[in-house]
Amino acid sequence: MRIVVTGGQGQIARSLRERGGAAGVEVLPVARPDIDLARPESIHTALAALAPGVIVNAAAFTAVDLAESESERALAINGAGAGAVALAAANLKAPIIHLSTDYVFDGLLDRPYVENDAANPTTAYGRSKLAGEKAVAAAQPDHAVLRTAWVYSPFGKNFIRTMLSLAAQRAEVSVVADQRGSPTSALDMADGIIAVARQMIERPKASALRGVFHLVGSGEATWAEFADAVFAESRAVGGPSARVIPIPSSAYPTPAQRPANSRLNGDKILAAYGVRLPAWRDSLRTCVRRLLAEGAF
Ligand SMILES: NC(=O)c1ccc[n+]([C@@H]2O[C@H](COP(=O)([O-])OP(=O)(O)OC[C@H]3O[C@@H](n4cnc5c(N)ncnc54)[C@H](OP(=O)(O)O)[C@@H]3O)[C@@H](O)[C@H]2O)c1
Repeated sequence: MRIVVTGGQGQIARSLRERGGAAGVEVLPVARPDIDLARPESIHTALAALAPGVIVNAAAFTAVDLAESESERALAINGAGAGAVALAAANLKAPIIHLSTDYVFDGLLDRPYVENDAANPTTAYGRSKLAGEKAVAAAQPDHAVLRTAWVYSPFGKNFIRTMLSLAAQRAEVSVVADQRGSPTSALDMADGIIAVARQMIERPKASALRGVFHLVGSGEATWAEFADAVFAESRAVGGPSARVIPIPSSAYPTPAQRPANSRLNGDKILAAYGVRLPAWRDSLRTCVRRLLAEGAF
């Protein structure tokens, strides 16, 4: 099986590349300037040249705060751009796996979100990603939209790397304690995406395998608990650690207001695909140890 993944330098794409090798799957990343979701005319040619069996669209405008002031650009890339990738997938007769986000929800529900809960994004990023889900579904019926959240990895910029580099500089770090979600390893996501891709290819007519699914690490935490866990794992192997000062979101204002409840219920993908990601704390331990060993923070 050949998976072509857009956003080739991103966390999910780099994780797919690493895990593809172990799973015996060929993973071909494609990135700017060869494919630019802001330039739809670049998309079909770049994908066709790689003869994909499955296309994973992991490219996105992911700068959540910047999207508030650059909402048209975010919408062009995450909405129309995603739709253009899906149209190319349809033309190439390749199923598409498209990555989306918990930010399509407003976070006001008092339980983990299921797939058919009403979307109500409160940020420009969330609106652009919801537009992308709709554009993908309209262009390529043979799709799986995977909503995830709180992604970290040994690659790129993410919460774990930020916490480790802060701990190397100071004794205390203030972290938001009134938002709950599920820390998700991009490497675990990659394993899940490969399992989904295989089954989409094996069962091209299975409607239960198409549509929107939630896929996040098992268990939940606040950002403050997430940070505490990073420092505990780091401390255990002699790495930097800091004291976490829990603060409310109101004490850490950002241009985009994050949902208080980012929890996603993963029962649907477990029933359809048999996929459940490991406990977040276990994957976090592996990632922290790897970052420390590589000095990559
Ligand atoms: N990170 C999270 O916590 C999180 C949570 C929920 C959902 N997701 C979703 O998961 C997916 C992957 O996220 P990630 O964490 O891997 O993101 P990431 O590390 O920020 O990677 C995104 C990639 O998209 C590329 N990109 C940006 N604009 C582009 C454009 N116009 N054309 C082509 N490529 C472009 C970027 O390229 P450059 O390197 O050239 O900038 C980057 O490599 C995204 O759909 C995101 O919305 C992420």
